Amino acid sequence: MDLNLKNLFTKNTRILVTGGAGFIGGCLIRRLLCETDSKVFNIDKLSYASNLSWLNLHKNKSNHTLIKVDLKDLKNTKEAIEKINPDFVFHLAAESHVDRSINGPHTFIESNIIGSFNLLTALRIHWEKLTPIRKERFRLLHISTDEVFGSLSDNGHFNENTKYDPRSPYSSSKASSDHLMKAWHHTYGMPIIVTNCSNNFGPWQYPEKLIPVVISKILQNKKIPIYGNGLNVRDWLYVEDHINALIVIAKGGINGSSYCIGGYGEMNNIKLVNEICKILDKQMNQTIDSSELIEFVDDRKGHDKRYSIDSSLITKEFKWKPQNNFKTNLETTVNWYLNNQHWFN
Ligand SMILES: NC(=O)c1ccc[n+]([C@@H]2O[C@H](COP(=O)([O-])OP(=O)(O)OC[C@H]3O[C@@H](n4cnc5c(N)ncnc54)[C@H](O)[C@@H]3O)[C@@H](O)[C@H]2O)c1
Repeated sequence: MDLNLKNLFTKNTRILVTGGAGFIGGCLIRRLLCETDSKVFNIDKLSYASNLSWLNLHKNKSNHTLIKVDLKDLKNTKEAIEKINPDFVFHLAAESHVDRSINGPHTFIESNIIGSFNLLTALRIHWEKLTPIRKERFRLLHISTDEVFGSLSDNGHFNENTKYDPRSPYSSSKASSDHLMKAWHHTYGMPIIVTNCSNNFGPWQYPEKLIPVVISKILQNKKIPIYGNGLNVRDWLYVEDHINALIVIAKGGINGSSYCIGGYGEMNNIKLVNEICKILDKQMNQTIDSSELIEFVDDRKGHDKRYSIDSSLITKEFKWKPQNNFKTNLETTVNWYLNNQHWFN
């Protein structure tokens, strides 16, 4: 797997990451700042899910420019794109929490659909004016989710040919944005690639997603809520492995294609929560069994049963695979939250 970023992005490359104040975008920007000398621009509306506290400590922070813009605003988006003048774009800005989309879908439509449409509109104006050399090198990676494919029963996996069947306001808004990306490639010839990944985990994830929620509940000795019977299955992808996949796809992916990124980490929720309890009890030398805090709560409306990704295309094409096993990544993640408990505040 070729992860060398310096032969893709030079000192003069202007990289735009949207949603770079979020969990995955932040991880991507840290990699770009560490491993390239490029200028990295970050368009983010700075929502409840944003955090840039890591930036103050970063030795290359002068290569990072934050532009606070909500992509739902076309005028501001156009102005930002004109100012940034990007060569390469990673589009991650989105409302990302399924439960919030069920309680308030409106923001998801604005951010994920209108926001992606506005970004495409602004980028098309920019791309059409580029010199032939820059136009040739320009690329937009749109980061999407496996949830656009719906829900699996006990067997089978999603792959690049799976038909779309989104079921929540979140997944349907992401599916819409995927279709816009594909249409802009097909109609206008814009160099766009779509990636569909499974559930990410790792340090810096906002504590509303399952893994940080469980850790925070245990640390506070509070009940750990688990939806339904806890048997819903997710394919857990370590965030650094996701970034590695984005790098190899940015380098070798074919414009107009989509790529599925899974973690080879399929597990049901109850097993995952028990694993976290075991790791934390061991790390904290606890004599109590934290799994006794587990409490089953009413299921999420329309809860998808199982997601599982067949990542064989990117494994075959780019030799991508997760660098460590799931248990090691989970231990690293739990330890990070243990050592950064202020994060929950
Ligand atoms: N976290 C996962 O498990 C996962 C899985 C599959 C796909 N994805 C996708 O990856 C991307 C990043 O996910 P994440 O977990 O880092 O999300 P996140 O919620 O942690 O961060 C998203 C960031 O986008 C910003 N944002 C949202 N709407 C915006 C708008 N209209 N204008 C400007 N900025 C806006 C937010 O302020 C936030 O900083 C999303 O597109 C998401 O759909 C995430």
